[in-house]
Amino acid sequence: MSAPIPLIAGNWKMNGAGPALAEASAIAAGAPAAGVRVALCPPATLVERMSRALAGSPVELGGQDCHAQPGGAFTGDISAEMLADAGASLVILGHSERRAGHDEGDADVAAKVSAALKAGLEPIVCVGETQAEREAGQALEVVTRQVRASLPAELAGRAFTLAYEPVWAIGTGLTPSLQDIVEVHQAIRATLRDMFGQAGAAPAILYGGSVKPGNAAEILALPEVGGALVGGASLKAAEFLAIVEGAPRA
Ligand code: 13P
Repeated sequence: MSAPIPLIAGNWKMNGAGPALAEASAIAAGAPAAGVRVALCPPATLVERMSRALAGSPVELGGQDCHAQPGGAFTGDISAEMLADAGASLVILGHSERRAGHDEGDADVAAKVSAALKAGLEPIVCVGETQAEREAGQALEVVTRQVRASLPAELAGRAFTLAYEPVWAIGTGLTPSLQDIVEVHQAIRATLRDMFGQAGAAPAILYGGSVKPGNAAEILALPEVGGALVGGASLKAAEFLAIVEGAPRA
């Protein structure tokens, strides 16, 4: 099976209002048409407007979370169907800021993945160890456990993406050594093959955590690194496009 097409996805987190759409339009204008996938995941309030800003461009659009239910009495929540209706085709699930700040466990993430699949969204499922877990030598064990428990069986044969984001590397300017990134990505790939057989070779495994134009190319060239999930550096078109530029082409 051929290597997955690299994906560079920008996670805007709780940043960006109307004026930020100019950055999305600039990204749409500068994104390559083939060889690498480019995606933006803005806050929910911008999804529909951004779908118009990206129309006709190769840039894909995603949400940052969804509820496990398609609808109902869940004040403040957004369903996968609603994201799809607003123009999204992807959704980030299980980000560490959701796991830590909203008490989401692996079973919650797995339920959301199922909901995303039902709505026709491609899930980007995030995993990653805390600093304490890495210092205790538990990074591989934690990440492997999260992969196994966050991915429901019905993902077999469906399009999805993994993102390895060490919690201590997010927004800190710190990154793991290149060797540590490869080690974790290889462990994730082995787990995917164990869970899904041959189909476990298909999903791209993104790295996320302080990816910048200055370090992206060397990280993206590593074995089993199939792209990046970019936070802060995705808010400015010039920085984000510089990262995209450094990605290997399929
Ligand atoms: P930073 O790139 O700002 O470290 O954020 C990474 C991240 O959490 C992307 O989901």
